[in-house]
Amino acid sequence: MNSGYPLIRPRRLRSSSKLLSLVRETVLDPSKFIMPYFVTHGKSLREPIESMPGQFRYSIDELLKEVKSVISLNIGGILLFGVPEHKDESGSESYSDNGIIQTTLKALKEEYPDLLVITDVCMCDYTSHGHCGIVDHNGRVKNDETLEYLAKISVSYAKAGSDIIAPSDMMDGRVKKIREALDDEGLADIPIMSYSSKYASAFYEPFRDAADSSPKFGNRKSYQMDYSNSDEAILETALDLDEGADIIMVKPALSYLDIIYRLKQTFKRPLAAYNVSGEYSMIKAAAKLGYLKEDAAVLEMLTSIKRAGADIIISYYSLYAAKLIG
Ligand code: PBG
Repeated sequence: MNSGYPLIRPRRLRSSSKLLSLVRETVLDPSKFIMPYFVTHGKSLREPIESMPGQFRYSIDELLKEVKSVISLNIGGILLFGVPEHKDESGSESYSDNGIIQTTLKALKEEYPDLLVITDVCMCDYTSHGHCGIVDHNGRVKNDETLEYLAKISVSYAKAGSDIIAPSDMMDGRVKKIREALDDEGLADIPIMSYSSKYASAFYEPFRDAADSSPKFGNRKSYQMDYSNSDEAILETALDLDEGADIIMVKPALSYLDIIYRLKQTFKRPLAAYNVSGEYSMIKAAAKLGYLKEDAAVLEMLTSIKRAGADIIISYYSLYAAKLIG
């Protein structure tokens, strides 16, 4: 440091908005946002999701209208979750050619061939028990048997037009199994975005209402990660990359900025962060009560996720933020 006379004054670069913008280190870009959508059977449906104000369950015809804004705002892509008509022990609608996701993919791709569509691969929306895999008679999820189903679902989505396969179940060995299945079917060019560090989190609660996917017994702690752990995220991510993951993910985002930072520093690979339902609904609720300003809070939240090291941000606020950024 020099002798008292302040040669360096950080405030000098904050004296106008032009200067601020010139030296800004982190800039949000809507083309790096992914907007999640819930899609369901039926016609002309836009069912409000009570726990996520401003979000809806769309029928396919309504989703086709809705994604026009995704395209016009130059948002990177969409992530689809299916709300099926039919649930059973093995979640059979998830891999049926006429399943909700397969039908939606065909309709979207016909109308908007250039729209990037990512599909979440998991069984919890489709199983009668609400767990992310096949369950034995003691109610435990059977890892290796579940892998066969995940591979089948992934191939079915990719054939129906999915651009990226995103397994969110957290079974061990799923990325390798899915990669091999895609390659065997001539789908070697379809990337895998793996939910590589997915924590067992209280912030998924509103989503489970939206997708009707709460486990009917037990919880997901035997397959999702313990939020007390950080080294484990390195291990889970290293395994997924080794098995062929193209994009890694941290989920949730806000309480896990340290994990985002650590994984980006360690792996230098494309990293997505999932700004989950609870993070969305907290701001919505506080804004409704007048406790904070929604637009400012949203931009600060998304910028913090990017500053921590996320390349891609999956957020229910994607459209809202893209409009603010302009
Ligand atoms: C499916 C899945 C969940 C979310 C994304 N994929 C729910 C869960 O794991 O319980 C949560 C997304 C959100 O909260 O926005 N396994």
